[in-house]
Amino acid sequence: MPTTDVLLDRTVIGLIKRIGARAVCDYGCGDGALLQRIDRITGQRLQLTGIDYFSSRKRGERPQSTGTMRFIDRASRECRRLVGQGGVFDLIVSAFTLHHFRRPLEELAVLVKLLKPRGTLFLADLEFANDSGDQAAKNLFSFLSEEFHAFQGAYHRHHYTRDEALPLFAAAGLAVRSSRSITVDFPEHERKEETGRALRNLARMRAANAGTANGHQRAYFDQRFAQMTKLVSRHGIDYSRLFTITATR
Ligand SMILES: C[S@@+](CC[C@H](N)C(=O)[O-])C[C@H]1O[C@@H](n2cnc3c(N)ncnc32)[C@H](O)[C@@H]1O
Repeated sequence: MPTTDVLLDRTVIGLIKRIGARAVCDYGCGDGALLQRIDRITGQRLQLTGIDYFSSRKRGERPQSTGTMRFIDRASRECRRLVGQGGVFDLIVSAFTLHHFRRPLEELAVLVKLLKPRGTLFLADLEFANDSGDQAAKNLFSFLSEEFHAFQGAYHRHHYTRDEALPLFAAAGLAVRSSRSITVDFPEHERKEETGRALRNLARMRAANAGTANGHQRAYFDQRFAQMTKLVSRHGIDYSRLFTITATR
């Protein structure tokens, strides 16, 4: 996501310093870019762990472990062992992941286990806001993706509002320390990049839909994909609205 740097500069580095974190995890770290920047900024003094579903990525696209950074597959025995052991991290950062969690309470329970007592969880995700054409395009695209993936037996939830996300934390036994809704800079080149990515995703879903055996379903989604491609091309996608939640175990 384009806004990871903003989160890093505004919040994560400050949190690391404030709580004196030594062991830091990025849960759902994607390509590991955030950890790599933390490693550089902090002069390789922290133990950094990235967790994600790496086995579904091509070999060349998986981040590589180094002396201070290790990357663990979410589906691996190593990850299960880490969760079983518990109390591992002073700080867990998780950016743009909540809307991917099929069973969010179970996933938050894993994060609670991975935190040391009084450890901190910092979560950020896109906010469901709907007050402009490009916000509406983002949300409608997100709903369509969720709908199509549900029919494919996969998962992608639409975005939460901050008010919807907050009770999940309390239910998982976390104490919310602060939460914020923020609007970050979303420059034109990032808008173009994200809009291009959304259009490529739409093309991929459309191609997958062409192989769907159920004719009614195929016709329905084909029409929706055509409509959505027009909408996204016209308005672009806006990822400038975020919420952040900081909580402790
Ligand atoms: C939108 S990407 C964000 C990646 C990265 N955090 C960033 O800010 O660029 C969401 C990531 O969460 C990962 N993910 C989804 N569900 C997950 C889970 N249950 N445990 C760990 N990672 C998960 C996905 O594989 C994906 O890499």
